[in-house]
Amino acid sequence: MATPVDVVIMAAGKGTRMKSKLPKVLHRLGGSALLAHVIDCAAGVSARRAVVITGHGAMEVEAACDRMHKACAASGRKLELAFARQEPQLGTGHAVRQAVPMLADDGVTLVLSGDVPLTEAATLQALIDACDGQRLALLTLVMEDPSGYGRIVRAGPQPSAQVRAIVEHKDASDEQHQIREIYSGIMAVPTRLLRGWLGKLDNKNAQGEYYLTDIVKFAVADGVAVVAHTILDAAQVAGVNSPVQLAELERSYQRQQAQALMEQGVRLADPSRFDVRGSLRCGQDVEIDVNCVFEGQVSLGDGVRIGPNCVIANASVAAGAVIHAFTHIDGEKAGVQVGEGALVGPFARLRPGAQLGAQVHIGNFVEVKNSTLAKGAKANHLAYLGDATVGENVNFGAGSITANYDGANKHRTVIEADVHVGSNCVLVAPVTIGAGGTVGGGSTITKSTLPGALSVARGRQVGIADWKRPKKG
Ligand code: UD1
Ligand code: CA
Repeated sequence: MATPVDVVIMAAGKGTRMKSKLPKVLHRLGGSALLAHVIDCAAGVSARRAVVITGHGAMEVEAACDRMHKACAASGRKLELAFARQEPQLGTGHAVRQAVPMLADDGVTLVLSGDVPLTEAATLQALIDACDGQRLALLTLVMEDPSGYGRIVRAGPQPSAQVRAIVEHKDASDEQHQIREIYSGIMAVPTRLLRGWLGKLDNKNAQGEYYLTDIVKFAVADGVAVVAHTILDAAQVAGVNSPVQLAELERSYQRQQAQALMEQGVRLADPSRFDVRGSLRCGQDVEIDVNCVFEGQVSLGDGVRIGPNCVIANASVAAGAVIHAFTHIDGEKAGVQVGEGALVGPFARLRPGAQLGAQVHIGNFVEVKNSTLAKGAKANHLAYLGDATVGENVNFGAGSITANYDGANKHRTVIEADVHVGSNCVLVAPVTIGAGGTVGGGSTITKSTLPGALSVARGRQVGIADWKRPKKG
């Protein structure tokens, strides 16, 4: 049986260069905290437990982790989450030392950083396999400009020569500065060995810190094999230290999302002007124009077209629907549903609980909230439908609204099938407009109307002939 994996996530550092009040690991990438990406990685290698090492902003980080973890558990993943405080922060070796009392000796410890969000589970799995429950496995990378990083010192010049040590940039000799193979900050190590080595660390180095990387020397001295698993893709081990690096990684993450969707057949007008902050599922022949942002859980059915500059969150759009430019859809918790072949926008706003049936038309400057529109219903211009049930083929005129709020409570408006509501009407809820009825333009309807009736509720027009306008005195 494979050795169980436990994960230690270092997240105690201050993140000074972010110049932010928010702890660094809680800054967002693709809509979720950096740390959430790392916890996902841990779940992706079927770790049994993840210990997050907190220090700066510990309370905030721990509370955020608990929230992420609940979401993770809700999606059926089994990963136990624990915390270890590191105060003060005396280096990466000192950090991991705070976690080892919470780790069982029968496992392999995978060390990750809370600010390195884009490592792929397959890469980590390969590192765990290289460790094989008995070796010290280091994830390494060859870089054009290795400055700042810990260098992999090998016994000889061949790339396959034995790894002897990791030397931090600040402690490296001129000769060692020439080494281009660097330590990524990620390792897999048998926990019982790690425990022993951490006890032997000292801080006699350029930074006066307890370096985790010093365990390599101890492994060599103990005759434990040290193996390097080298990857080519720098984004997988890139850390976030500044807003510039965060933005760079965000782009690289979005590129990946775009690439994956295009490989499935989704047509993006411009993959560099496309953002997914959550999950986007697409059917066949979906087209997405430039500058669209998708948040939370969004699904787009076959043949859906999304115009430019749309923001779509927590919504499901059925086959053949078209969302025109500048439309804002936010389903929040209740969600938004757009039916087959519906037309929405430009400049439409769909809020939580908007449920549009097939072939519904929602035009410019129309807002829909917590309302159901049956097949073929239309509200094409400047309207508000809130807490309404709208029947098939209703036509809701320009400038008309449901007055759903009396200042204290919300009430429903029912507009039965085939009703025609003229322009500039106010339907004061609770009220029902009977099937097939017509509401004359400019009416304020406060009482339910009969099916088939014309209802007009406005001042009658009067005509006064030869009207003399007042004159200035
Ligand atoms: C570390 C490695 C270096 C490697 C580099 C890759 C050491 C000594 N050096 O250096 O070989 O090339 O990562 O990015 O490990 N942290 C704590 N507590 C501490 C110190 C750090 O939790 O006391 C956390 C930080 O918040 C961060 C991570 O550990 O998430 C790495 O720390 P950092 O100071 O960035 O290490 P580097 O100097 O970059
Ligand atoms: Ca770093």
